[in-house]
Amino acid sequence: MSEKELKNLDNLSNGYTTKKLCRIDNLKTGMKLGKDVVSIDSSFLLAEGTTITRAHIKHLKALKLNSVYVVDSPCCRSEQALSNFEKKYEKIMVSLKLAFEHVRIFNEVPLAQMQELVDFSINPMIETRGILECLRKIQKQDCYTYRHSLNVAIIAGIIGKWCKYQGRELADLILAGLLHDIGKVQVPVYILNKPARLTDGEMQEIRKHPEYGYKLLKELAVPQKVKMAVLQHHERKDGSGYPKGRTGQEICDYAAIIAVADVYDAMTTTRVYRSKQTPLLAAEVLLEQMYSQLDPYVCNTFLTYLKNSCIGASVRLSDGQLAWIIHIGQQKVCRPIVRTADGQLINLELQRNLELLEFI
Ligand SMILES: [Fe+2]
Repeated sequence: MSEKELKNLDNLSNGYTTKKLCRIDNLKTGMKLGKDVVSIDSSFLLAEGTTITRAHIKHLKALKLNSVYVVDSPCCRSEQALSNFEKKYEKIMVSLKLAFEHVRIFNEVPLAQMQELVDFSINPMIETRGILECLRKIQKQDCYTYRHSLNVAIIAGIIGKWCKYQGRELADLILAGLLHDIGKVQVPVYILNKPARLTDGEMQEIRKHPEYGYKLLKELAVPQKVKMAVLQHHERKDGSGYPKGRTGQEICDYAAIIAVADVYDAMTTTRVYRSKQTPLLAAEVLLEQMYSQLDPYVCNTFLTYLKNSCIGASVRLSDGQLAWIIHIGQQKVCRPIVRTADGQLINLELQRNLELLEFI
């Protein structure tokens, strides 16, 4: 790609990252500068792309500047919006933990409670602007199964919405996401949390969780598709999945959506045996599996959403430089074009000595 084309792309990326004037009094930490800031005597103060800190705000106020340009994009949410999202998320987590504990102790799913969580908390939440970025930023390393269940419910809801599911059908898909790993409450905790490689016996035990989950739901008044999604979320179109090795059309649509959400969340979350991967690495795995194991339409829908949500995201490169993503290609999604804080455009597909290390 030529230098001119790169510049055009940078301009195009403004479609995702509009810039607006912001009064210094209204500046919030976490906002990103949309243009270089120069002082009244024209000396350079801060570079475009700088993430605003408390110290910056104090400094800018001391210099009596009126306003600066900030980036206004889905990937540049104020700390307040993120903190509101986190509060709602953690509130759901408390209820979810209680619900999972109930299943563990009484061997019975508190269905009404789960449905209430979906209808009044999770379903409204999927409308949140920049939700994938919010999920990325609030990651904690406790209670993996509960967090994973909630994340999969949210991501399945996003995919469902984009695939035009609505009303009860969308709510049931989110419920299936929330319940997909419910069978894990019957798998010994030492296996679930084992940091080392699992033995064949332990692997066999963990692979029973879809059937355990199905049995827990079998007699309950939930749609058959929800039960099937719990049973089939590890099935793969080419027959390589479990528990039954089902293929193609034998796998229900809810299970196909949850499979994509499950792969993405598992990869982008820190596990006891490995650290989290970047969303773009997860996207590359989804691309690899979309024509063999996963549903191509579901994958494509999610990948479009995911790539858009990554435009404008702040990242760290392997040489320590901070940058933000301005373009993601069709194939080498792990190697986007980025713009560094000093304004340099780098096409990582060509600059093979550099890697995208992490999202920040
Ligand atoms: Fe699972």
